[in-house]
Amino acid sequence: MNEIDKKIEPFAPAVVITGATQGIGRALAEEFARFGHTLLLVARDEAKLAETARELSAAHGVEVRFAACDLSTAEGCAGVEAALRRFGLYADILVNNAAIMTAGFFQDQDVAKTRRLIDLDIGAVVDLTLRFLPGMVARGRGGVLNVASMEGFMPVPYQAAYAAAKASVLSLSRALSYETMYTGVRVSVLAPGTTATGLHAKAGAENSRYLVLLPAMTSEELARIAYRKFKRGKRVIVPGFFNRLGVIAMRFVPDLLLVPFVGWLFRVRDAEGNLQWPRPLKNPGSTSRRESSPASAERGSGLRR
Ligand SMILES: NC(=O)c1ccc[n+]([C@@H]2O[C@H](COP(=O)([O-])OP(=O)(O)OC[C@H]3O[C@@H](n4cnc5c(N)ncnc54)[C@H](OP(=O)(O)O)[C@@H]3O)[C@@H](O)[C@H]2O)c1
Repeated sequence: MNEIDKKIEPFAPAVVITGATQGIGRALAEEFARFGHTLLLVARDEAKLAETARELSAAHGVEVRFAACDLSTAEGCAGVEAALRRFGLYADILVNNAAIMTAGFFQDQDVAKTRRLIDLDIGAVVDLTLRFLPGMVARGRGGVLNVASMEGFMPVPYQAAYAAAKASVLSLSRALSYETMYTGVRVSVLAPGTTATGLHAKAGAENSRYLVLLPAMTSEELARIAYRKFKRGKRVIVPGFFNRLGVIAMRFVPDLLLVPFVGWLFRVRDAEGNLQWPRPLKNPGSTSRRESSPASAERGSGLRR
């Protein structure tokens, strides 16, 4: 930062990374730290955040701060801005990575959990981008890296809400990337294919065919590609040759074939290969949808061959 910039901006630049304690977010944090960036890590688990910050700071000699915020809430998103102010930092780069996934028949999903997915997977992306993008444009530098998914390019039976949220992230990012052209700010979207993290097991999808049949990238490999391409200003980053081939193929395969094939890949199964079937509604006459309760929030029931 030069002297004039310091007068305008008394704060120091930082990279804000959401969902930075594990999986892809953690690997991206490692990559940004490796290249000397100051970091603000965001997730909910404070102990894991503290541990990650300690490890990254020790390994790369950079300043690493953290903020424990539930980004599926408006207060959680506001908490990120407050944390930056508290640490004397501003968001030079925003990496919207945190997300959750749900799997199974849409009709069996828990209403509260599905709302949380939408609030986090697309709501927080919109909220945080709106908070920090105007400052970047005013400074004429910086960037946003949104983490979408290959699933954003197609309808995905049995992960319908998650894929819809990722399609929104892709659409938003591509539009913003155009709007910010010539401002000095880059907006990129990362669309990974299957990556070896805990995301799928948390959703109950760990035995689905796509995880068994498709090759998975490591988070570290993915983060290296993502960082390099983001810095080069690539707008849509699809890491891996086969993933890129898949995205091209999706443009040409008609929905009549694509959707049943994707459904076959993503159908939830148990460890023995039993397929999940829809759960019967106890009171079919009831007009209310399933609400969050310990029983209804259980995942992956109704499995049979
Ligand atoms: N893994 C894949 O195959 C794959 C493929 C394509 C795209 N992606 C995308 O890559 C991104 C990262 O996925 P991942 O596989 O690395 O997931 P992950 O291993 O499950 O990590 C998720 C991270 O998000 C944080 N998080 C979850 N809920 C949160 C909330 N409400 N508020 C704040 N932070 C929250 C978690 O920490 P806390 O639990 O402590 O909050 C954790 O740090 C996601 O956007 C995902 O959709 C993943």
